[in-house]
Order: sequence, then structure tokens, then C-alpha cells
Amino acid sequence: MAAVAKLSELKDATPTRVDVDGVPVCLVRLGDDVRAIHDTCSHQQWSLADGTVWDRGVECSLHGSTFDLDSGRPSSLPALKPVPTFDVKVDGDDVHIDVTTATNDAPFPDH
Ligand code: FES
Repeated sequence: MAAVAKLSELKDATPTRVDVDGVPVCLVRLGDDVRAIHDTCSHQQWSLADGTVWDRGVECSLHGSTFDLDSGRPSSLPALKPVPTFDVKVDGDDVHIDVTTATNDAPFPDH
């Protein structure tokens, strides 16, 4: 697991993009927890960190699909495929992520 951010520097319910070993990740702080989802929208490869957090989901700013931060599944069209989600551990102020496998078994985007 790689330390990728400081909890104290993440704004609540505000997406933040980080690159972890070449993988773009959208981090979202929800209180004292953090969710990590691949930053690439499964519809047309837009950055999810450019979007808005609604009720434990992140809404893509290009066409409005919302992805559940726990399951990675889209809850609204036009996206149909899930986005990989990642294991997160918060240790004190350090946020660690494992990007080697998706916790939801969703395929990684091609690019
Ligand atoms: S690129 Fe995200 S919904 Fe179209």
C-alpha cells in the first residue's frame, strides 16, 4: 500500500485526483473515512475528480453518470460499466491505497 495523501488536507465530500504508481485515482473523504475509485469514467474516459459528490457517489461532470463510491457501479446513464474501486487504509493522518487490484473486480480502463 502506498501513502498517497494526508487526511487533514482532503476536504470532505470533495473529489481529489492523485496518481498512484501510474494509476489515476479519485479520492473522496467522507468524514474520517476515505473512498478511492479509479479516476477514469467508464463512459468516455473523463476525470471523475472533476465531478461532484452526492450521497456517497461521484457524478461525472461530462454527462452526469453517478458512480457509487463503494461498489463503483453507475447508478445513472449514460455509463453502463463499473469503475474499479480500491482498498483504503487511514493510519493517523496518512491515507494509504492499494491500486494493484480492484476491490469490486471491475476491469481497469485500457488507457
Ligand atoms: S464521460 Fe462520464 S458520463 Fe460520459
